[in-house]
Amino acid sequence: MTWRRRRYHGRDLSRALSIEDLRQMAMRRVPNFVFEYVEGGAEDEQALKHNREGFSALRLAPRTLVDTSGRHMRTTIFGRESASPLVIAPTGGNGILQARGDLQLAHAAGQAGIPFTLSTVSTVPLEQVAREVTGRHWMQLYVMENRKVAEDIVTRADAAGYEALVFTTDANVFGLREWDRRNYAAPGRPTWRNLLGMLGHPRWTWEVMLRNGIPQFENLKNFLPPGAANAVGGSTILPKLFNTPISWADVQWLRRLWPRKLLIKGVLNVADAERAAAAGCDGIVLTNHGGRQMDHCVSALDMLPEISARMGSQLTLVVDGGFRRGTDVVKALCLGADCVMLGRATLYGLGAGGQAGVTRALEILTGEIDRCLGHMGVNSVAELNPGLVRRV
Ligand SMILES: Cc1cc2nc3c(=O)[nH]c(=O)nc-3n(C[C@H](O)[C@H](O)[C@H](O)COP(=O)(O)O)c2cc1C
Repeated sequence: MTWRRRRYHGRDLSRALSIEDLRQMAMRRVPNFVFEYVEGGAEDEQALKHNREGFSALRLAPRTLVDTSGRHMRTTIFGRESASPLVIAPTGGNGILQARGDLQLAHAAGQAGIPFTLSTVSTVPLEQVAREVTGRHWMQLYVMENRKVAEDIVTRADAAGYEALVFTTDANVFGLREWDRRNYAAPGRPTWRNLLGMLGHPRWTWEVMLRNGIPQFENLKNFLPPGAANAVGGSTILPKLFNTPISWADVQWLRRLWPRKLLIKGVLNVADAERAAAAGCDGIVLTNHGGRQMDHCVSALDMLPEISARMGSQLTLVVDGGFRRGTDVVKALCLGADCVMLGRATLYGLGAGGQAGVTRALEILTGEIDRCLGHMGVNSVAELNPGLVRRV
């Protein structure tokens, strides 16, 4: 005898029980080349795979007979209370999953009481997000060859009241996502097969491509040549723009320019963490860019214990890469992370059902964190410590 296990295949978000359920829903709702853009990693996708494997190598070691009926997951990030130790990561081109996807992610984050990070290559202008969405907003920055672009973004984000600037340092040599690239005949131009694939997704085609016009990199419009602001095939258009050396001199420059919290996203080395603190940064994001940049890269989780032991008291430590379960989040907090950024997990929600889908993704994850804290015998995330995990 065998039994059959089937996931729910409909559109009712309340029936999605896991991030994987939302991933499957999103996969059906958007054309293949859009899903590939979100899903894939660089080259052989070893870094991408490794991000998930890291969680399997860690096991949770609970305490028992603890009354956890009063447990909560509130925490403090940059001196302000957050409803949970989660932050939405910056992801570019969100508008190709859902029209005005950045707004939907930001609204869901605001309602969940957590910060939202807007990408430099968003498809909604940074001012509109700040104006229309109540909540904590962080601005991600790519520094391109023309430093005027970065200066423009920083000045506008300051004027719009963004709380933090997140300087991404791991994409100026752009990773080659081969499976994504294969979907395009030329930069920004999907192959005929992929264009035909849009016919199988009329709702997406109407909502994303026709009704509101093809999504554009709205923050960069004044600087990009005509045609280059088109967000379809972003990862085939951006490599050229990003291809410029950046250095610690840029960090010093940004520190002078930006008055509020400054983070470097792309730190995976203790010496770089020390240098970030010395340069006046407030935090770092330990990340390998979701396995989309350098293949065979270590994961944030690999480096977290070492960096936390040395720099945890001086810098806010944000980690990301492969977080799909509440237990993943709890493991990282045990190892010294202050909070976790969500990339694909909330994008799956966005693809599956817009803002309601993102809200569902956050509900699923916070439900899992809550249960995990209860199982671990702790009443708050502040009680998590390295003694509560084992590497197996
Ligand atoms: C579709 C997509 C677009 C991304 N765009 C950006 C971006 O514009 N800026 C940035 O700093 N990181 C970007 N990232 C990386 C994320 O911020 C984050 O580091 C990564 O997604 C975390 O891994 P996860 O997706 O497994 O959670 C992107 C990731 C994805 C999946």
